Amino acid sequence: MRILVTGSKGQLGNEIRVLAEDYPDFDFLYTDVDELDITDRQMIEAYFVDNKPQAIINCAAFTAVDRAETDEITANLINAKAVENLAKSAASFDALLVHISTDYVFDGKSYLPYDESDKTNPQSAYGRTKLAGEEAVTQYASKAVIIRTSWLYSAFGNNFVKTMIKYGIERNELSVVYDQVGTPTYAKDLAKAILDIIPSAVQKSGIDLFHYSNEGVASWYDFARTVIALSGISCDIKPILTKDYPLPAPRPCFSVLNKSKIKEIYKIKIPYWIDSVKDCIQRLE
Ligand SMILES: NC(=O)c1ccc[n+]([C@@H]2O[C@H](COP(=O)([O-])OP(=O)(O)OC[C@H]3O[C@@H](n4cnc5c(N)ncnc54)[C@H](OP(=O)(O)O)[C@@H]3O)[C@@H](O)[C@H]2O)c1
Repeated sequence: MRILVTGSKGQLGNEIRVLAEDYPDFDFLYTDVDELDITDRQMIEAYFVDNKPQAIINCAAFTAVDRAETDEITANLINAKAVENLAKSAASFDALLVHISTDYVFDGKSYLPYDESDKTNPQSAYGRTKLAGEEAVTQYASKAVIIRTSWLYSAFGNNFVKTMIKYGIERNELSVVYDQVGTPTYAKDLAKAILDIIPSAVQKSGIDLFHYSNEGVASWYDFARTVIALSGISCDIKPILTKDYPLPAPRPCFSVLNKSKIKEIYKIKIPYWIDSVKDCIQRLE
């Protein structure tokens, strides 16, 4: 099967590249903005005509959550308008579109893990643009899987794990919020889940929405403490409130996702978040 990976130089795209050798039946076409700018409708059409992918994993996104507050137009272009381009081309070539979305589509006011059917109510520009991307997939694709995930980290790019290790080495003390609760997601685990479900998903038609994160629940404070402890770094982590660490974009204070649907339908096993943080730190070492 020929699989186009867009935004393949990001965290998720790179983890797909690492896993690719375990999937010899897949022929991967890796692109990022230089080879295939997903905001360019004509470029996408031409790419599909030349390469005829049977599935697309859209890892491309505008992920600078705070910058999106002051540049919602660009965020919307990449997170929504470009997704419409991909959805339209995928539909005209009868290809499966796997699109990644976010816990930021929720307002974070729940205290129970979010189901796929729960009401969305994004509080940030990033969340609004990602929700618009989901809507574009629903409206224009004929065969698609939308996967919402949360707190993504990996061995690649900039992410919370790498930031905590860097600052943990440089400083004696770090302050991290404990009143935002969710679940970290290891991009390698998400990449594996995506590649495992593609052979079945490609046989189906229609649009399916799933939640995927690692198992368990943590605050950013717990996440930071775990990273520091597993890295063998000596640094004090202090719990603070979100109000004492103001950022431009509001974050959902609760964004635990219920993964029952993807586990039941695709029979996948999801690792516990601390086990996955361990794996990532071992790779970084
Ligand atoms: N990171 C998180 O915590 C998180 C949480 C929940 C959901 N998600 C979602 O998970 C998915 C993967 O996230 P990630 O962390 O792997 O993202 P990432 O590391 O930021 O990678 C995104 C990639 O897309 C590229 N890109 C940007 N504009 C493009 C365009 N017009 N055409 C083609 N490629 C373009 C980026 O290039 P440049 O770097 O040059 O811009 C980058 O290589 C995204 O949909 C994101 O919204 C992420």
